[in-house]
Amino acid sequence: MKDILILAIETSCDETSMAIVKNGKTVIKEITNSQADEFATIGGVVPEMASRMHLDNILYVYEELFNDIDLTIDEMDYIAVTYGPGLIGSLMVGVNFANTLAFIHNKQIIPVNHMQGHIYSAFIENEVTFPHLSLIVSGGHTDIVLLKDHNEIKHLGYTLDDAIGECYDKIAKILGYGYPGGPIIDNLAKEGNNVIKMPVPMNNKELLFSFSGLKSHCFNYVNQAKMKNLEVNAADFACSFQNTAVDLVFSKLDMAIAANKPSTVSVVGGVSANSEVRKRAVERDMIIPSMKLTTDNASMIGCVAYYMIEKNIFCEFAKCKPNIEVEDIWTN
Ligand code: KG4
Ligand code: ZN
Repeated sequence: MKDILILAIETSCDETSMAIVKNGKTVIKEITNSQADEFATIGGVVPEMASRMHLDNILYVYEELFNDIDLTIDEMDYIAVTYGPGLIGSLMVGVNFANTLAFIHNKQIIPVNHMQGHIYSAFIENEVTFPHLSLIVSGGHTDIVLLKDHNEIKHLGYTLDDAIGECYDKIAKILGYGYPGGPIIDNLAKEGNNVIKMPVPMNNKELLFSFSGLKSHCFNYVNQAKMKNLEVNAADFACSFQNTAVDLVFSKLDMAIAANKPSTVSVVGGVSANSEVRKRAVERDMIIPSMKLTTDNASMIGCVAYYMIEKNIFCEFAKCKPNIEVEDIWTN
C-alpha cells in the first residue's frame, strides 16, 4: 500500500507547530515554536499577542520544516490543520495558512479537532486497542472519553468550571510564580509533604470534575496567611494541592474503567507531563505519551488526520470553530 504523507499544522494556543507524519504513526519531522517564554512573566497567554506571534513565526516554522529534508510540499498527500477548539485569533493563523497552501499546491485539507489530537498522541508510540478510554488533562480541558473505534467517540466526563491545568497555573500565580505554573508546582511538590488538608471537589459517583472550589480554598489559605504575617510552606502547599487534584482525576478515571471495562487506557494532554500523574499511570499499566507529545504539537494532529481519511472528512477551505466539543468532527 502506498504511504500517506500528511503535513500537519497546529496553532490553537501558544505553540506554532508543523509536522510531516507518515501513515499516522511515523513523525518524519516536527518543528514547534513555543511562546511560553514570552508569557512567563505576564502570568498567562494573552490571546491577541499569541495570534500576532503565530503570524510572525508561521512562515519560519514552515521553511524550517522543509529545510534539509528530501521531501517537498508537492509530495504531501493532504494538509491537516487544527480548526478548534482554541483561541480564535491563534486558530485563524494556522487555518488561513493551510487554506493558502492547499489552494496554491492543489491539496485537500483535513480539519482536525485539537482534543482528538491529544487523544491520538497516545497512538503514535503505542499499539492502542479498542475500546479505549482516554483521560485528557490540559490547560483548557479535563475530560474522560471512550473510543469504541477510530473517531467513534463518547464524552463521559468533563469539568463544570476550571480545567486542571488552569488550576495549576492559577495556584502558581497565587504563590507568586510565573507561567506555565504546572511544571513549577510539580517541581515544588517534590520537595514537600502532603500535610495541608484540602477540600476534595466533586467527591461523588459522577464522572464530573470541578476545580474552582479547590482553587478558591488555595487562594483563601494564602491570603489569610499573608494577613496574619505567616509564611506559607510553598513546597508542602504545592504537594498537598497536587495530591488532592491528582487523586481526584484518578478516582474518576478508576470509576470510568470499572463502568466501561476498556481494553486500553491512556492519560494525555499538557498535565500528563506531571510527575505524579505519570507515576500513577505507569503503576496502573496505562499508556502515557513521551514528554514531547504531552504538550501541544502538530504530530498528534497528523496522526488523527490519517484516521479521518477513511471517514472522507476533507474540504477545500477550512473554517475555525473555536468552541467545538471533543466528539465533534468536521462537517462542510
Ligand atoms: O495541552 P497543553 O499544552 O495546552 C492546552 O491545550 O491546554 O497544556 C498546557 C497545560 C498548562 O496548564 C500547564 O501548566 C500544564 O499543562 N502542565 C503541567 C505540567 N506541564 C505542563 N501541569 C502539571 N505538571 C506539569 N509538569
Ligand atoms: Zn492542547
